[in-house]
Amino acid sequence: MVEEPKWLTINQITDPAGDLRILELPFEAKRTYFIQNVPHGSQRGFHAHRSLRQIFFAPQGSFEIELITGNSKRSFLLNSIDQKALVVPPGYWRIISSFSKDATCMVLASEHYMESDYIRNFDEYVSWCKENLENES
Ligand code: TYD
Repeated sequence: MVEEPKWLTINQITDPAGDLRILELPFEAKRTYFIQNVPHGSQRGFHAHRSLRQIFFAPQGSFEIELITGNSKRSFLLNSIDQKALVVPPGYWRIISSFSKDATCMVLASEHYMESDYIRNFDEYVSWCKENLENES
């Protein structure tokens, strides 16, 4: 089985000089990247990671992440107002969509970029799940 995705809370300290937002990380991040200026209706992702662990949040605007594995499909709304971040463990096929015009999709990743960690073909992902996830119990 894959690990469950998990919500983290982004804490806020507000004073007259502005808002401070804090996210304590449950793992060491080696890389961060962010996505902006996504045209209306565009979707991203369409891949899974073999071992990469990620945290997604929306410092600005909103977007949705659909996580697919085995026979489950779940949707998570990331909205800057909610001040939540989503931990996405390895092994999930993801589709990122519904970006608001002003959205920033911020990502923290446990490893440096490595193309060989990606599974970009859905049929290959289904085979990978059979080999790597379904035999564990
Ligand atoms: P990809 O992860 O497929 O984007 P998304 O999931 O948002 O649709 O990455 C898009 C391209 O950018 C792909 O060619 C790989 C490259 N890339 C890097 O070179 N380094 C990185 O850290 C990331 C995330 C992507």
